[in-house]
Amino acid sequence: MIVATGFEAGGHRVSFLREPEDCLTGTLSLVPQVVDTVKVPVIAAGGMADGRGVAAALKLGASAAQIGTAFLACEESNAHPLHRAKLFSADAQRTSLTRAFSGRLARSIHNEFIDAFRDQERQLPPYPVQSPGNARVTDETAAVRILAPTHPIFTFPNRITSADFDDWVQERNLYSFGSFDARYTALLESADPGEPPQRGGEVIADVGKGKYVYTSYAWFRQLRAGVPGAYRQFANLISLPKAP
Ligand SMILES: Cc1cc2nc3c(=O)[nH]c(=O)nc-3n(C[C@H](O)[C@H](O)[C@H](O)COP(=O)(O)O)c2cc1C
Repeated sequence: MIVATGFEAGGHRVSFLREPEDCLTGTLSLVPQVVDTVKVPVIAAGGMADGRGVAAALKLGASAAQIGTAFLACEESNAHPLHRAKLFSADAQRTSLTRAFSGRLARSIHNEFIDAFRDQERQLPPYPVQSPGNARVTDETAAVRILAPTHPIFTFPNRITSADFDDWVQERNLYSFGSFDARYTALLESADPGEPPQRGGEVIADVGKGKYVYTSYAWFRQLRAGVPGAYRQFANLISLPKAP
């Protein structure tokens, strides 16, 4: 079966072939198009909160209706009481699409957080991460282990070894990822004395036809201080699109 989700739907958007912004079709027009195109049962989703919506979905040819937002208010829902109250407030009259909560496009009751994040939305990591905010390795002499020595990031054009972490200044990294999705590969491991190894300092992931690299190593300090190993590594980072 197929869930045909209109742009009215609350929460995250489903989109597989195109950017979700290019798939914003209303439930009323989407459902009959999908019903006419496929042979499997179609479940209509988006914008239904009572029996009238469900009846309309069935009339459009759907085999069933999927309700999301309306269930947030149910007793069984884990939604916070403040969230429930918002659903019945005047604020719920304005919803907007945002990537601010998770990086994936979602419809939410509009709020200040969405406005504050508007300019940064496209810079959010492609897959889930959790960032404690102050995760860093402050000892600039802390050992750094290269976890993927054969990865082009450590071989092209420069072969990177532990010597490329010599003579660093001030710190190793700052604002590292804490925990991160399995689609990221950790590239480096380091730790301050007495602390557990930290692997979220530099990670890479495939995204579509490209690569996403997050590096929290303190290049801005090392490059300014003329640290040779930092120049060699930074050259590799920006050479990735040309790597064999
Ligand atoms: C808080 C919330 C989170 C959601 N998260 C997801 C999600 O992660 N993935 C997904 O495919 N749909 C997600 N949905 C969409 C629902 O599965 C459902 O299709 C949608 O809510 C139906 O539209 P409606 O909210 O207008 O009833 C979410 C919905 C809500 C309300």
